[in-house]
Amino acid sequence: MKPVLAITRRLPDAVEKRARESYDLRMQDGDEPLSRDQILDLCKDADAALVSVGDPIDAAFFDALPKKVGIVATFSVGTDHIDLGAAKAKGVIIGNTPGVLTDATADIAWLLILGAARRASEGEAEVRNATWSSWRPTHLMGTQVTGKKLGIIGMGRIGQAVAKRARGFDMDVHYFNRRQLPKDQEFGATYHSSIDELLPHCQFLSLHCPSTPETRGMVNTDFIAKLPNGAIIVNTARGDVVNDGDLIAALKSGKLTAAGLDVFAGEPNIEPAYRDLPNTFLLPHLGSATVETRNAMGFRALDNIDAFTQGKDVPFCV
Ligand code: DGY
Repeated sequence: MKPVLAITRRLPDAVEKRARESYDLRMQDGDEPLSRDQILDLCKDADAALVSVGDPIDAAFFDALPKKVGIVATFSVGTDHIDLGAAKAKGVIIGNTPGVLTDATADIAWLLILGAARRASEGEAEVRNATWSSWRPTHLMGTQVTGKKLGIIGMGRIGQAVAKRARGFDMDVHYFNRRQLPKDQEFGATYHSSIDELLPHCQFLSLHCPSTPETRGMVNTDFIAKLPNGAIIVNTARGDVVNDGDLIAALKSGKLTAAGLDVFAGEPNIEPAYRDLPNTFLLPHLGSATVETRNAMGFRALDNIDAFTQGKDVPFCV
């Protein structure tokens, strides 16, 4: 008999096929976000669960989770939707998918940098809505990216991949990280030992830190005040690292030129004011959304579950 695997969302075809070969699947027919109770229902007779970003895997979930479910593997590197303390207390292993979404996410950070700087949302809307009247010297002038200063908060794999790409734009890159990296991982970037020291150097700022009690709400009015006037912020990390009200106020006042956002607090129910601002470039959490990367994430999640169900060490767990 195959082990039973509860899966909360549809998976890429190749991943679902592999899951079906090894497991007896419990999954929904549609692709809607499930409530805690609906997920628990799928887990009723399961040996393992495969969950996704945004699923409510909180303390109440672990309290009600059948003892047989010894692993919850998330289809993500981020684990902020999971109460890790509660999982540990119940002895449930949490698997994640580090390493395979670095390039896709760095590419999206760059799409945000370019899209925000070059007013891509406004331009695209004109073409789509047939409101583009003519070529004119003053039409939708944006901000030059090449040769500017880029700051990176969080120089892990993704931050490094963003820094590497910045070399192609002749940028002067600065970063803050809990520790300074060896030279070969800095890609020519200058290290700052505090965020306060970094911020004045950031004409562009790209966020790559996890959501933790220390970083939640970090991008607030005080933080923004330390950036050069007219700076551009992009976020591919987690939405709640930003204080939405403060960011929106800075975008309205002109303190910030623009923001590129792929992640939002409370997504998909984002702060509506973002939609009304012309100087935001907004994406629906697409950082890892390439076929190659989503397949690799799914296979990594299944590797974690395979190891657990075969009594081996889970390769990627937190
Ligand atoms: C993750 O894996 O945490 C990403 O946010 C998904 O794109």
